[in-house]
Amino acid sequence: MYRIIRKKILNAAVVQMEIEAPLVAAKAKAGQFIILRVDEEGERIPLTVAGTCSEEGTVKIIFQIAGATTYLLSQKREGEFLRDFSGPLGCAARTEGIQKVCLVAGGVGAAIALPVAEAFFRGKADVTAIVGFRSRELVILEEEFRAASDRTFFTTDDGSFGEKGSVTLPLARLLAGGERFDEIFAVGPLVMMKYVVETARPYQIPVTVSMNPIMIDGTGMCGGCRLSLLREGKKIMKFACVDGPDFDGYEVDFDEAIARNRMYAEFERKAYERTCNLFGRAEK
Ligand SMILES: Cc1cc2nc3c(=O)[nH]c(=O)nc-3n(C[C@H](O)[C@H](O)[C@H](O)COP(=O)(O)OP(=O)(O)OC[C@H]3O[C@@H](n4cnc5c(N)ncnc54)[C@H](O)[C@@H]3O)c2cc1C
Ligand code: FES
Repeated sequence: MYRIIRKKILNAAVVQMEIEAPLVAAKAKAGQFIILRVDEEGERIPLTVAGTCSEEGTVKIIFQIAGATTYLLSQKREGEFLRDFSGPLGCAARTEGIQKVCLVAGGVGAAIALPVAEAFFRGKADVTAIVGFRSRELVILEEEFRAASDRTFFTTDDGSFGEKGSVTLPLARLLAGGERFDEIFAVGPLVMMKYVVETARPYQIPVTVSMNPIMIDGTGMCGGCRLSLLREGKKIMKFACVDGPDFDGYEVDFDEAIARNRMYAEFERKAYERTCNLFGRAEK
């Protein structure tokens, strides 16, 4: 059992928790994730390690209430326990040898990008962060990104905070103005990452994308997280949980990934409604 040490509401749909899990805290690196179960009957869900404190033995997670399990998790209070908290899983983000990086994050992807930005920043890379949200009320981790970057650009779809429009606008402007990066690291909705790749393509700047397909065991056994890459005209299969979650954005078959992600949408909607009805909450 894993105790919730601290809980903080970041916005109406995003919660931060620090969980007592000393073995995970001692090993986890930026870019890795954990798989948790809220209770005995619970579904296994992957969440990125958003930070660790080795003295306290705690692991920070930041999650968006997206459906049944994240809703149940959000209802847990400080001092209560989670059934399972396994990790660290997946490969750490590759930061060596990169001197100038641009992180592009959308929505709760900000929670996944922040530890990577911090790792680059600690490694003395020049860090530009472009972080986008739908509107001002959904902005999270603003101060944290400012502290872990040399330059930050915020965008919102409705222009209520930062620049109006999507994250690709400042990116396109920087690239058109002659800015060059050793790498662009993108994380957020699949469509957003696809467009980041297309924005960078004319400049041939390497793009790493952090993929978040459905995961079940997180150890390469179930095949749930399989992903197609197109490499030198050939289709090759990878498992995001053990080969990723980071991949070369130019190789990812985004159209297939988008279709696979929608496969369980109806089932997930019903599970969410059932859970919310149990807790007496309005439907999504
Ligand atoms: C490596 C990795 C890291 C992630 N890190 C974060 C994070 O730091 N913060 C965060 O808010 N979210 C993160 N996610 C997404 C998070 O796992 C899902 O939002 C969560 O599983 C939703 O579960 P649910 O039951 O609440 O919602 P559901 O209603 O079951 O699903 C809502 C949506 O979440 C996704 N999802 C559902 N089940 C899974 C699953 N088992 N594995 C992966 N995705 C799923 C699907 O896109 C689905 O459409 C990460 C996903 C992966 C693969
Ligand atoms: S989650 Fe089962 S193979 Fe990756």
